[in-house]
Amino acid sequence: MMTMILVILLGYLIGSIPNGLIIGRVLCGVDIRQFGSKNIGATNAFRVLGPWPAFWVLLTDAAKGIAGVYIGQILLGTSLAMLVGGIAAMAGHNWSLFLGFKGGRGVATGLGVIAVLMPKITFTVFVIWAVIVYFTRYVSLGSIVGAALLPVFVWVTGEKVEYFYFAVLASLFVIIRHRPNIERLLRGEELKIKAGNLAAK
Ligand code: G3P
Repeated sequence: MMTMILVILLGYLIGSIPNGLIIGRVLCGVDIRQFGSKNIGATNAFRVLGPWPAFWVLLTDAAKGIAGVYIGQILLGTSLAMLVGGIAAMAGHNWSLFLGFKGGRGVATGLGVIAVLMPKITFTVFVIWAVIVYFTRYVSLGSIVGAALLPVFVWVTGEKVEYFYFAVLASLFVIIRHRPNIERLLRGEELKIKAGNLAAK
């Protein structure tokens, strides 16, 4: 039990590292929370800072999810511990210790978790996400639909039951944090994706 608590704490701590904020400040001297959607994730980094900083935000945020999974594997070695480490990293990203329990949407960090644990489902969800983003230019819509479909795919492919519970929770984490996006989508005011340098305007 104590080791599982350690998995949660370490996963949460790593997930809390606000890569988007750090990369924006260090590479570009910009606080991305002041521009675009004001989110700290790769999509807003793409919008505000451009493709390369966004690439690093995506990579480092996904790495937090991967790290959470491996913390579970190293400390306990069970699939449950790996899922718990992954979801703890997502929680840290979404409700960061270093940002007054504010944070991102959990997409890239969740992607890191599922890429390790369920690569085929990850690929399917990614393709659906990419098609939606390509045709609508709304990254948030792709993320919301992808998140909603994750538990469905986990269920129909007959993965272990703990994977299903993880998928439901991860999906909720992502969808809850997209509330501002959902409101903008409903008002027809959601930001379409476009690489840029909003901070310079
Ligand atoms: O992964 C986050 C994305 O779905 C939405 O990002 O910046 O448009 O709120 P953003």
